[in-house]
Amino acid sequence: MSCYHRGNIVLKKDLLSLLDLQKDDYEQLFKRAIQLKERYAKGIMDRILMGKTLGLIFDKKSTRTRVAFETAMIQLGGHPIYMSTQDTQISRNEPAKDTARVLSRYIDCLAMRTFDHALVKEFAQSASIPVINALTDAFHPCQILSDIMTIVEKKGGYKNVKIAWVGDGNNVANSWINAAAVLGLQLSVACPDGYEIKQDILDNAFETTGKKDVILTNDPKDAVKDADVVYTDVWASMGDEDELSHRIKAFQGFQINKDLLSHAKTDVMVMHCLPAHRDEEISEQVLEDKNSVFWDQAENKRHMHKAILEALILKEK
Ligand code: CP
Ligand code: NVA
Repeated sequence: MSCYHRGNIVLKKDLLSLLDLQKDDYEQLFKRAIQLKERYAKGIMDRILMGKTLGLIFDKKSTRTRVAFETAMIQLGGHPIYMSTQDTQISRNEPAKDTARVLSRYIDCLAMRTFDHALVKEFAQSASIPVINALTDAFHPCQILSDIMTIVEKKGGYKNVKIAWVGDGNNVANSWINAAAVLGLQLSVACPDGYEIKQDILDNAFETTGKKDVILTNDPKDAVKDADVVYTDVWASMGDEDELSHRIKAFQGFQINKDLLSHAKTDVMVMHCLPAHRDEEISEQVLEDKNSVFWDQAENKRHMHKAILEALILKEK
């Protein structure tokens, strides 16, 4: 987790990008999320966040992330407060630094979903409580944490698992790059010409960790060759919708369908953060496969969010 210090004292931790975590932090989060999931399944109620409050400020739509954070907080004995930006004074131009300082006097943690990543950073710098990035145009760290948790559950770990990203070089892809850099994942990324991962994202990830194992290509067949996991996401993210018709042309050949998957391992696991656009980035047939893990992925967000909330709210040392 990234930490804010005054002298030698750690004031608080935030989760803004997956470069904020050390390898040990990832391992602890996977272990704890799986443990909390098992305990919940047995009916054990871990009320470890009793009396704590999570604020959620969302500028963009959400089904999974919002509900997973809210239910995670409730099941841990705490309370979520959802605030759409339109209903707060932010929409009347109250500065982020003022809102962040005020909310820090009421709540114990803030999850934010917005467009500009710089805004989440600004909140984190001014808040005295932990701030979680619940998706920005740049990153979606909580998503990839729960997705790797799903890989750990289904494949017994993430080492020696060949992961292929096929699609847009977007916020979710950027978070895969960050995770790959810290964990040393075997990651191949195929994006159409003009939609690749930005150079600054790659430089930042690999400068931080010193590793450079990721394969980058414009050919989806190259990326999925012998893959254990194939991952995709929408071709036009929130904010890019007006480019969709142009993107549909540019992304031809990048749909995850049975033909493309024939190049992967026979037991390939297909993943998608959802929401999915049927017969655009993924075929209806693949999406509706009875052995698919998409719904487990979605469920695991709740368990992973619990582990993140616990780590940030209770372990501020
Ligand atoms: N995967 C994901 O973040 O979904 P939502 O946009 O519904 O939160
Ligand atoms: N890349 C997508 C992810 C949605 C969960 C978007 O930003 O819209």
